[in-house]
Amino acid sequence: MRSYEEAFSPYWHPVAYSHELKERPLAARLLGTELVVWRTGSGVSATQRYCAHRGADLCAGDVVGEGLRCAFHGWTYGQDGRCVRIPSQPGAPIPSGAALRSFHAAERYGLIWVCLAPQPAAPLPHWPELEDGSAATVALPRLDWNISAGRMVEIVLDVTHLSWVHRGTFGNPEQQEVPPYEVERRPDGLRAQITYPALAPGLEGAPPKVDKTMLTYEVVFPFAARLAFKPTLFFKHTVFAIASPWSEEKMQCFYFASYHPGLRMFPDIFVKSELAILEQDRLVAEAQRPRAHPLDFSGEVHVRADRLPIEYRRGVIALRLGRPVDAPVPG
Ligand code: FES
Repeated sequence: MRSYEEAFSPYWHPVAYSHELKERPLAARLLGTELVVWRTGSGVSATQRYCAHRGADLCAGDVVGEGLRCAFHGWTYGQDGRCVRIPSQPGAPIPSGAALRSFHAAERYGLIWVCLAPQPAAPLPHWPELEDGSAATVALPRLDWNISAGRMVEIVLDVTHLSWVHRGTFGNPEQQEVPPYEVERRPDGLRAQITYPALAPGLEGAPPKVDKTMLTYEVVFPFAARLAFKPTLFFKHTVFAIASPWSEEKMQCFYFASYHPGLRMFPDIFVKSELAILEQDRLVAEAQRPRAHPLDFSGEVHVRADRLPIEYRRGVIALRLGRPVDAPVPG
């Protein structure tokens, strides 16, 4: 079985919201690797965080032209990580080792994405509604939780917890049975549609519960999930959760809620509502053991209604085994 880092390094993961990366370089972390990301006129860059000269923190440096200048002795690195200037000896050749590890970086959907491997194994998720203006979208504050990225995605996919964990927000405790549903395996992910008998209102002052809500779940491996509610009180409501692994037991999740464009003047209401729901999830999730995403099916008992998170777990295990996500795995 491949190590956690080896299995997931070839994928794109978000490390920051776009709005967090301003003119200063920004610290980030992914799969145990400390990064610095910065933006120039030609795009975003990501390299190792600490200077090749004496280990200074490059987040304290400056973006100059197309490069990053260390604040300690002024060495300047290009976007490919190679040192291009050593001010203390401007006429001398630059040592070949004067370079930072550099990584693929991209900006899309309001996120800064990084891939640590030399070659990305898959493209970014295809989520045009996050950027085509067809919906109003709010980005929640980053969720820094002490759980694995895989556990986080499983919670998003877990329809059976809605009536239990989300009492008092949008879950309906009177509706606990989950009807049978199918899970479609795709080359890059999963899709399932589940008719949840009813959702309770999640917002203060909202009208009574909505009967028969269609939940459409989509997963893009390894850690991106989209959940669309239809119909809803607001006709259109979709959430996007992208868990970014810091380590095998800790992740940060970038989370968007999109809703009817006519409601874009009320972002605070949606942020408040989503955060209240997610806090209910966090209390349960951080107390789960093991924190790491289980790599087999022997330690937990699964039932039919768990099928979607279990299909997801199969895909993650396949990746750890170095197989396609839709390949059969033991268990
Ligand atoms: Fe960065 Fe010396 S430590 S230039």
